[in-house]
Amino acid sequence: MRITDFDLYRDLLKERSGLVLGQDKSYLLDSRLSPIARKWGYPTLDAMTDALRGVPDKDLVNDIVEAMTTNETSFFRDNKPFEMFKDVVLKYMKEGRTTRKELRIWCAAASSGQEPYSIAMILKEAAAQFPGWRFTIKATDISDQILNQAREGVYSQFEVQRGLPIQFLMKYFTQDEEKWRISNDIKAMVNYGNFNLLNDMATLGRFDVIFCRNVLIYFDEKTKASILERMGKQLESDGILFLGGAETVLGITDAFKPFPGQRGLYAQPGSVHLAQGGARGAGNTQQALA
Ligand SMILES: C[S@@+](CC[C@H](N)C(=O)[O-])C[C@H]1O[C@@H](n2cnc3c(N)ncnc32)[C@H](O)[C@@H]1O
Repeated sequence: MRITDFDLYRDLLKERSGLVLGQDKSYLLDSRLSPIARKWGYPTLDAMTDALRGVPDKDLVNDIVEAMTTNETSFFRDNKPFEMFKDVVLKYMKEGRTTRKELRIWCAAASSGQEPYSIAMILKEAAAQFPGWRFTIKATDISDQILNQAREGVYSQFEVQRGLPIQFLMKYFTQDEEKWRISNDIKAMVNYGNFNLLNDMATLGRFDVIFCRNVLIYFDEKTKASILERMGKQLESDGILFLGGAETVLGITDAFKPFPGQRGLYAQPGSVHLAQGGARGAGNTQQALA
């Protein structure tokens, strides 16, 4: 690929999605964009690149951005965050919320749905301990294509073997030839929508818990800070943010601080969690929800 072409795609991706394309990833352009060029009827990738220099078709640009996103995910990915959600966050919310019996969760880079459905299964299992509570899960992603897969809720044998406990597979999925289909009641707990993390988050409303895992790693520091700061405004004052294992707020923004004793969890600086040293939820994991 010509250097000027690389620059064009790097700038387009950065502007439309925040994704940073390093020179070391230039090989991805050929492999991921050649199928897009074919789909759009261009004889070569160079021909598509030349067309992009004019007034680019919005749908073509979306296809390019989608093709360059990494959608890697799995059920209960890394396991520990989901244990903390069940044992620390739910416990805290149950104790801390005596009047507003509601939990609004935002899964901000939902990919093909394994993360929001993992959360939904945990909530379903815990429901008996939350009489009268309302749980909502908003799951968003920049890619319509991946959101359609998520909405469908159909997974391969390989996908359900990665992290999903066998008892959950038996309880919440039905086999459909080679595939596994998630049950309608779990599906109904998740509300999907397209949302670009660069956009105004106020339109989404406020949340008690935000999962923003394994997406900030693709952005530069300024974009990370902007996303985290805007997320802070959408989180209730006692809300909790989950980041991926390779992600942190440290050195990026003061909008969040690490949740005491719980790796990967963050709370806002004035939050009750930090004032109590995380004591209410984190200190009592032995008495965690079953
Ligand atoms: C690696 S996946 C992470 C999925 C899941 N959170 C997990 O940890 O398993 C990253 C997801 O972020 C999405 N993404 C990338 N840039 C985005 C943006 N600007 N706004 C919203 N989603 C974005 C991608 O489409 C992809 O599905």
